[in-house]
Amino acid sequence: MKGIILAGGHGTRLHPITLGISKQLLSVHDKPMIYYPLSTLMLAGVTDIQIISSREDLGGFRRLLGDGSDLGLTLSYAEQDKPRGLADAFRISADHVGDDSAALILGDNLFHGPGFSSVLQESARDVDGCVLFGYPVSDPERYGVGETDGRGNLLSLAEKPAQPRSNLAITGLYFYDNDVVRLARDLQPGPRGELEITDINRIYLERGKARLVELGRGFVWLDTGTHDALTEAGQYVQILEHRQGVRIACIEEIAWRMGYIDRDACYRLGSRLSKSPYGQYVMEVAAGARDLEGAARP
Ligand code: G1P
Repeated sequence: MKGIILAGGHGTRLHPITLGISKQLLSVHDKPMIYYPLSTLMLAGVTDIQIISSREDLGGFRRLLGDGSDLGLTLSYAEQDKPRGLADAFRISADHVGDDSAALILGDNLFHGPGFSSVLQESARDVDGCVLFGYPVSDPERYGVGETDGRGNLLSLAEKPAQPRSNLAITGLYFYDNDVVRLARDLQPGPRGELEITDINRIYLERGKARLVELGRGFVWLDTGTHDALTEAGQYVQILEHRQGVRIACIEEIAWRMGYIDRDACYRLGSRLSKSPYGQYVMEVAAGARDLEGAARP
């Protein structure tokens, strides 16, 4: 499976912060925003990933992440000259996807919850059609909304409906079979003039090939598109990290735990950042100093 992180857009709702920097490079507590969606793909087992952004911003992502080899990943970069909707990602990244299945994640989406990596890995296996992730929210009219029959089967999908038929938002993480490339190529823009991912998902739904994974109430899905949402996401991460002493979306730790790099490589990555608590954490994790106290050893 190939991965795509869509990190374009002008971040207009975050002006003036985003006048000088891409939204997805802003900090969410102790790390750049893009670490969160990147770590989600890494936990799904996806290691060949293309990052899409504007020409001005691509340099910043390249500086931050390079070719990914330090993390055992293959990262590439592609330009979107202007935002044309989420489905445009599959036009831009058609060559990158090739004849493989694809995972698309929005660069400002933060997922965190128990057992998430197993859910991801299970959902990414042998995708036949599409897999969508639903999450209950208080303001569904801001999102793609899925209506279900109560047993997890999708009945309908609507993009930002004025009168939502449920409170289940469709999150910014999508798994597709290879057909998505052709569907995106043939897609007509929707009423907003954009290539809507919801229109693609609806085609899969009509074919009986759209699967919904419901992320329950013990789960956290945050987007970071407004000043308040950005601060709240940072606070969530801060509280969790302080309380538990772990760091979430620590890409070096994940690369090591997923077996993409070895312990020594992980330690070296941490030592490059050793002046920061983040870097010290990576070194401690790699050195085994953070193995759980009280945990039975195998
Ligand atoms: C997009 C999608 C929407 C989805 C949301 C998730 O909306 O169109 O269906 O629920 O991402 O973040 P946008 O953020 O582009 O308004």
